[in-house]
Amino acid sequence: MGDEPGGAADDSAVARARALLDAARRVVVLTGAGVSAESGVPTFRGQGGLWRSHRPEELATPEAFARDPELVWSWYDWRRHTVGQARPNPGHEALARLEARLGDGFLLATQNVDRLHQQAGSRRVRELHGSIWVLRCTGCEREREDRATPLPSLPPRCAACGALERPGVVWFGESLPADALGEALRAAATCDALVVAGTSAVVYPAAGVAVAALRAGRPVIEVNLDPTDLSGQVTVSLRGKTGELLPRLVGA
Ligand code: OAD
Repeated sequence: MGDEPGGAADDSAVARARALLDAARRVVVLTGAGVSAESGVPTFRGQGGLWRSHRPEELATPEAFARDPELVWSWYDWRRHTVGQARPNPGHEALARLEARLGDGFLLATQNVDRLHQQAGSRRVRELHGSIWVLRCTGCEREREDRATPLPSLPPRCAACGALERPGVVWFGESLPADALGEALRAAATCDALVVAGTSAVVYPAAGVAVAALRAGRPVIEVNLDPTDLSGQVTVSLRGKTGELLPRLVGA
């Protein structure tokens, strides 16, 4: 019984969602770009979204990288700069507080590559789409973390073997990290409540984490500015900003 699509989150819907969370011992949260929007990180499909002005197949596929690594890297270098200036917002902080309350009963599966959840204090994070701060060698597969923005030379090369390095993110057409995805799917199917926040929930298999909870009959709370394909199926659908609603759901 989702609330009216497009309707603002009223107090009774927030109270219902909060009661579900208060009673839950095992909570899974699935987040997307909307959670970082209030930190100044652009989303993909919303207003001002990256895929409104850029073509994903030119920037976020293995084929694009093989064709023009400099172009792909200059885009990621720009995104690293943007993300590097961002700070966690009250939505990230609320999820860190929820984890502090639940301990091992908490799991945060994120599609975000910005590490803002970790910066806010979240520890039980599974990065379904990798991290923009990780560089991976296309030759020897060595991974390293590098927070320099801009990177000193583009495209970067592996210090060990000299091959090109690529961003440590998941591109279209690539597999998600199987351990992280498997753990998130299993936890979603057995949790007491799942929160799906700030994601259009159209990119699979990540969106499947929310669907796994729905299929298993678990309570699902959605927090999003706009209605999504999931809104009509979830237990409570809250329309608004994650930076405002997540703190109301979690409390101080
Ligand atoms: P999208 O840009 O597809 O969706 C962002 C969602 O957040 C939309 O549904 C917005 O309505 C909502 N939103 C925006 N600002 C919000 C706010 N302040 N509070 C609440 N909701 C807000 O981003 P994702 O769902 O994360 O993958 O996209 C999934 C994947 O598609 C990304 O990980 C990326 C992209 O292509 C890859 O690059 C592989």
